[in-house]
Amino acid sequence: MNLRNLLTATNSRLIRLEEDTLIKPFESEDNELNDFLHNDARNYLTTLLAATYLIQTNDETLAYFSLSNDSLIRSDMESAIWNRINRAIPNEKRRRTYPAVKIGRLAVAKKYAGMGFGKLILLTVREMYVTGQQRSGCRFIMVDAYRNAFLFYEKNGFRFLTQTDVDDETRIMYFDLKAV
Ligand SMILES: CC(C)(COP(=O)(O)OP(=O)(O)OC[C@H]1O[C@@H](n2cnc3c(N)ncnc32)[C@H](O)[C@@H]1OP(=O)(O)O)[C@@H](O)C(=O)NCCC(=O)NCCS
Repeated sequence: MNLRNLLTATNSRLIRLEEDTLIKPFESEDNELNDFLHNDARNYLTTLLAATYLIQTNDETLAYFSLSNDSLIRSDMESAIWNRINRAIPNEKRRRTYPAVKIGRLAVAKKYAGMGFGKLILLTVREMYVTGQQRSGCRFIMVDAYRNAFLFYEKNGFRFLTQTDVDDETRIMYFDLKAV
């Protein structure tokens, strides 16, 4: 199933949040993420700090995610991980910082969890940055993953960036878009 088919099956559509977009009711299992959508996402849009995308039917919000520009920086990780990342970059293009996009928030409504929305959203973000829609260079997807979602991201090809956050409730994970 691809996102288009899932949207059709659930009678929903993917839209970008604009200042005048009506945000339909949304309830994921995470209250902070619910609160962000209703009370903060629009502020992030007007201050140009994050763009939010919604999957909505006429009555409710099924899922949402928000994106911001980010960087993958040498000093944020151990040498072994940096070397592994760098091996995939041609010698003459190697830098101490690479362009990235950050998934700042991602949540699926309780009622629609386990149907594939999360996975298809990650695929959609990948497509946004490897196809013609790409407006500036972007090599990596980053996420500050919640502990309960580590496995979800790992199953979708993300890797941990460092061991220094191993005991934290959130850990930085990355995905190399050239690995697609
Ligand atoms: C985590 C979340 C985004 C996953 O979305 P979803 O639509 O339910 O996931 P999908 O149906 O696309 O599942 C894709 C795969 O990941 C697995 N998966 C989904 N959620 C998982 C979780 N929390 N832990 C482990 N695996 C998970 C599924 O079993 C599936 O595996 P498969 O491909 O082997 O069948 C969603 O459950 C959610 O919004 N949770 C609350 C908020 C949250 O934690 N957001 C992440 C913030 S970083």
